[in-house]
Amino acid sequence: MEACAMTCDATASDALFPCTPQPPLNVEAMRRDFPILSRKMNGRPLVYLDTAASAQKPRAVLEAMNRFYEQDYANIHRGVYLLSQRATIAYERARERVRQFLNAQDAHEIVFTRGATEAINLVAQSWGRTNLKAGDEVVLTELEHHANIVPWQMLREQIGITLRIAPIQDSGELRLEDIEAAMTPRTRLLAVAHVSNALGTVLPVEEISALCRTRGIALLLDGCQAVGHGPVDVARLGCDFYVFSGHKIYGPTGIGVLYGKQEHLRAMPPWQGGGDMIEEVSFERTTYAAPPARFEAGTPPIAEAVGLHAALDYVAVLGLKRIAAHEHALLQAATERLSRIPGLRIVGTAPDKAAILSFVLNGAHPHDIGTILDHHGVAVRAGHHCAQPLMHRLGLPGTTRASFALYNTMDDVEALGRAVEEVGRMFG
Ligand code: ALA
Repeated sequence: MEACAMTCDATASDALFPCTPQPPLNVEAMRRDFPILSRKMNGRPLVYLDTAASAQKPRAVLEAMNRFYEQDYANIHRGVYLLSQRATIAYERARERVRQFLNAQDAHEIVFTRGATEAINLVAQSWGRTNLKAGDEVVLTELEHHANIVPWQMLREQIGITLRIAPIQDSGELRLEDIEAAMTPRTRLLAVAHVSNALGTVLPVEEISALCRTRGIALLLDGCQAVGHGPVDVARLGCDFYVFSGHKIYGPTGIGVLYGKQEHLRAMPPWQGGGDMIEEVSFERTTYAAPPARFEAGTPPIAEAVGLHAALDYVAVLGLKRIAAHEHALLQAATERLSRIPGLRIVGTAPDKAAILSFVLNGAHPHDIGTILDHHGVAVRAGHHCAQPLMHRLGLPGTTRASFALYNTMDDVEALGRAVEEVGRMFG
């Protein structure tokens, strides 16, 4: 990863945001790396502000996958022929790239999954069923998205664990004392977002991790909205598990990552059974491979791993601290621009925020706002953002959410501002 070229004043608590000041990104040049950004939508230039749902893909990712399919593709880990060996090397290189990206100790700690959702389900079903029993507690927060709620509820139905929910402030902030108060002597695991997908809140994950360590509680961090927006270092975070999806970091869909400390993965039973996760199979008895293979049953997302590798290279060359600084400037500008619109209220005003801006507008339903914005070529997400309990907590049916990425510009912020202003005039 590129070193911070200028004075860095980042402290432990603002590891995601950011090292300031940073040399600016050449955004116009970068935008040319993303073919889709030159498309028109509804006759207007596309203003893509929905990266929190899924990021667009640079040519480097598209070409790496295409090249792989054209020149090196075969199934992996099973072929004695050269092509299969080349594909296996590419897949395992991608694993090593992820290790390096997360600063994990060992590539055996990196499991490829279909996405972050599958990674959380894997931990719930494998680690959870092995290590938890009826009455044990798992702590979540009010701002989790469904992927970090439902797998734990399913486990509750299966083995009778208790879920404790740490409350958030109206601003979307999570206070350390509230997460601490949710922990009891029966707490075995905290499963929390690194960054809220609906509000942008950056959670105090290093402090949460310290609380967990002193109490011997395991910690799972859901990094879906954090990776690609700032450096992530699992050694520094000290978490037991970290999950993310490839498609949110400019990589392909269909691949995600579970980082798990070796001591956990080695002790965890398989979750899904099939080829490639075994040592020996007979009708009487099967023995299982060591991690990570134990958790990768069947043909894995091979070309997707190659694409993810290219995506991680892409953001690393740009510099994650520079990306964070760029997105932070966009967030500040957008917050200031939208705050001037009569009847508009920003939802999620925690001091430490990623570049996600949720808002409501008097008299206008979020879906109507999203539809009208689309007529202006502005793509945002509207609704509950797969975080219904959070919307319930905030007393809202949903919000309209603009989320920013390395390819967004101040012109995008202005296009959003103008389009929302028009909605305001229509409904005002
Ligand atoms: N979790 C994704 C989002 O926030 C889908 O939009």
